[in-house]
Amino acid sequence: MNMRFACLPCLTLLLAACGGGGGVTSSGGDNTGQAQQVNLLARTATNTLAYIPPQCFTRTQDTEGGTVHNPCYACHAASSEPNYNNQQNLQLAYSLPQAGAGQYIVNPWTNLFKDRSAAIAAISDDAVSQYVAQDNYLDGGGIALAKKLASVPASWDVDGDGKWGGYAPDAWFNFDARGYDRAADGHATGWRAFSYYPFPGAFMPTNGAFDDVLIRLPAAFRSNTAGVEDLDVYGVNLAVVEALIKRADIAIPATDETALGVDLDNDGKLGTATVVKYHWNPVVGDNMSYVGQAKTELAAGRLHLAAGLFPEGTEFLHSVRYLAVAADGSVVPATRMKELRYGRKAYWRSYSDLNLQAQMDAIDKRKNPDTPEIYGGDAEHGLNNNKGWTYQGFIEDKDGKLRPQSYEETLFCMGCHSTLSATEDGAFAFPRKLVGGSANGWYHWSSGIRSVLPDPKRKGDGKLEYSTYLRNNRAGDEFRGNTEVLARFFNADGSEKADQFAALASDVSVLLLPAASRARTMSKAYWALVMEQSFALGRDGLAAPAANVWQQVDENRATGVVTPEAAPRLALP
Ligand code: HEC
Ligand code: HEC
Repeated sequence: MNMRFACLPCLTLLLAACGGGGGVTSSGGDNTGQAQQVNLLARTATNTLAYIPPQCFTRTQDTEGGTVHNPCYACHAASSEPNYNNQQNLQLAYSLPQAGAGQYIVNPWTNLFKDRSAAIAAISDDAVSQYVAQDNYLDGGGIALAKKLASVPASWDVDGDGKWGGYAPDAWFNFDARGYDRAADGHATGWRAFSYYPFPGAFMPTNGAFDDVLIRLPAAFRSNTAGVEDLDVYGVNLAVVEALIKRADIAIPATDETALGVDLDNDGKLGTATVVKYHWNPVVGDNMSYVGQAKTELAAGRLHLAAGLFPEGTEFLHSVRYLAVAADGSVVPATRMKELRYGRKAYWRSYSDLNLQAQMDAIDKRKNPDTPEIYGGDAEHGLNNNKGWTYQGFIEDKDGKLRPQSYEETLFCMGCHSTLSATEDGAFAFPRKLVGGSANGWYHWSSGIRSVLPDPKRKGDGKLEYSTYLRNNRAGDEFRGNTEVLARFFNADGSEKADQFAALASDVSVLLLPAASRARTMSKAYWALVMEQSFALGRDGLAAPAANVWQQVDENRATGVVTPEAAPRLALP
């Protein structure tokens, strides 16, 4: 691995040479091809609307009055408590805030419109394959970033106290058969990998990245009542949390309830449980419990439990990786991380806290429609989503090593993980966790998509998730730039290819996985962005400039969507 790192500078030089004296310059942009300096000490953003992602600027109609493409519903729809962010109206019109905008809103994500074809052409298939195969996380038997943070560089130390005050990566991405992460010395780090249905749109691997999510509950959830670490206790607690988030019964290995003192299957007696039964109606005293030390803490009021909410102290770790092409030509997650993203629920917010917050936000919005949302924090400590969670991210520097994200780069995280209708307590992936099979969904994606997965049904209407996305959006990505998906699922006249929709119903990889050539192109396009360090202008590595996105859009312009689409949760398990 050290060897590979050593090669990096020469690789970059080589690229510059191939590109005729500027491997990453591109025409038409305002960028010189030199890497920009990112100031990590800043506590302000140039783009104060960075929490509104590029997806919101998508042109929903190719021509005035033409077919309507609605990728918006996936994020903005009706919500159910304790998510009080009802957002159907955002499908209808571009009511974007921008102080002093006057007639139109300018799209701040200018990277979308840059032509990177020269930069992409300058990178050979071999060069990109080598690049994405390098490990920029583990290094010489340790976690590279953690080592660097142990003696934090002054330019990363926002509060200047000589110590790193944020998250220091401590997952080894080395999972046992039950998905528990193991450090080099074999001890369990508390992180547990799970697989899930990727969120429709940008997060599907066909659109450029493979990602994974790990969850960790605090020590009390990982210990028995005697305070001793116990992974069986931990496994039950994770199942309790899964039941609460999905509001569904969750299968568990046969568990002795007497030892735990909790009637997990709610059959009125303590025996052997093979399921955690979901039942939660606290008004009439119908409630669930955690087990082990967390049960004691819950009873003492130091921990909380409610449907749709994670307990305080819950952490998520999320690596976003390049796409790699395996020897057999299939597309798999690369070793190299584009980003490492982290979230922690620092404190509890009850249903009424969250409801009040949403009402206050709505009043604020009505009074000051052009005032950007405020998220406090900095590059060292992460940003607070005003609902209990702190988010923080790391991204490649120009040489491909992970560095903290600036305030502005982190502001980008906050809209998706705070005020969207689409999340459950700020989280996307866990409500979409897979179940079944011997591992019951507790495994890492590292082997690619492990088994053939059907297109999942949605709760209530029973419609298929990804097929519905394709039908509402009439494309496989928000920007309709994924020509491979377009050609696979739609005829030139826009009609559906019935055989491909039928194939998707039983196997989601038909949609989720790109061809090797597309995977390489997307990795090259994103690598060009890395060398520029221009993430503040957008971090989408597009194969070609976005043609279906507004560079400026009339304020309050109608999208053409007349009836908002619903986006119910998946019917899982
Ligand atoms: C991947 C998720 C996602 C998609 C898809 C998406 N948006 Fe958004 N949108 C956001 C986030 C995040 C915000 C900022 C936080 C918020 O307002 O909830 C936002 C904000 C907005 C706002 C400003 C709301 C305000 O109160 O300031 C509008 C208007 C909007 N989106 C319209 C759209 C439209 C129209 C589409 C489809 C063309 C769309 N969005 C697609 C995530 C998304
Ligand atoms: C455009 C919306 C969007 C933005 C912006 C965004 N995320 Fe996410 N995030 C998601 C989605 C969707 C997932 C689930 C992954 C999947 O479906 O593949 C996710 C997953 C996560 C997770 C795992 C827990 C969960 O919610 O499932 C963490 C932690 C996280 N993101 C942190 C961040 C950080 C830090 C940033 C900024 C650097 C960020 N996110 C920016 C949409 C977003």
